[in-house]
Amino acid sequence: MTRALLAGQFAVVTAGTSGIGRAIVERFLAEGADVLTTGLTAARIADARAAWGDRVRVLHADASSLDGLDELAAAARERSPGVDVLVANAGRDVAATLIAETDATAFDHVSDLNFRGTFFTAQRIAPLLNDHARIVLVSSIAGTNGGPGHAVYNATKAAVRSLARTLTAELGERGIRANAVSPGPTATAGFDQFTGGSEAVAAAVAEMVPLRRIGRPEEVAAAVAFLASAESSFVAGVELVVDGGMSQV
Ligand SMILES: NC(=O)c1ccc[n+]([C@@H]2O[C@H](COP(=O)([O-])OP(=O)(O)OC[C@H]3O[C@@H](n4cnc5c(N)ncnc54)[C@H](OP(=O)(O)O)[C@@H]3O)[C@@H](O)[C@H]2O)c1
Repeated sequence: MTRALLAGQFAVVTAGTSGIGRAIVERFLAEGADVLTTGLTAARIADARAAWGDRVRVLHADASSLDGLDELAAAARERSPGVDVLVANAGRDVAATLIAETDATAFDHVSDLNFRGTFFTAQRIAPLLNDHARIVLVSSIAGTNGGPGHAVYNATKAAVRSLARTLTAELGERGIRANAVSPGPTATAGFDQFTGGSEAVAAAVAEMVPLRRIGRPEEVAAAVAFLASAESSFVAGVELVVDGGMSQV
């Protein structure tokens, strides 16, 4: 019989009401964890609450706002004396815009959630982490690739990957491990936004993947579960790429 990877553990996952975040929450539930997550859209929050019941607390909290992150930390403190796993998953991209045409408002919109939000999520939850806790930051292969039109997204995801290194350096003496997971194209509403809902664009992206398909959120969640569990007990500061080989070949 296999043992649940996260039995009795308390996990905080940002942006868990759809896409990759939702798959992470559901995998963590299957692995025996108690979960606190966040979302923004009332209908999706209601849907998630109905699906998960008491085992998950779904908080309306904006991961790009310090007030929202303080609410998240307060809710975590209320739910459990210590956090075993933090997954900073919240992130967004916008329609392709060349650097020459990117204004400060558009820059801040992406950066405030992807980098500033991830940074302060880690900062606000770090004091609540138990010794030997795990942090998983959701980056992207875009942090390594230089796809045109997505300069801010690409750079913020590189920053998130970097943050996993510094968190490991600063928290490692408590046995806390921070790692990044970098998905490639993954079938979510966020990916549909990237393709503009075009099946032809999605198919063209799939052609660029050595495995010739788009990934599933559950496949990213499996990598996150590995890094969140004792199965990865000597893995720290790395980037685990889940992209069907797209950035490797
Ligand atoms: N999908 C991909 O191809 C792909 C590839 C590489 C990396 N990633 C990264 O993976 C992560 C998840 O992406 P996804 O594709 O699963 O996204 P998604 O399908 O667009 O889902 C976004 C989730 O984030 C929540 N959310 C959005 N803004 C938020 C905010 N300010 N505060 C709190 N929650 C917020 C949404 O909540 P509501 O629905 O309640 O509004 C929703 O649950 C992101 O960091 C993304 O950059 C995705």
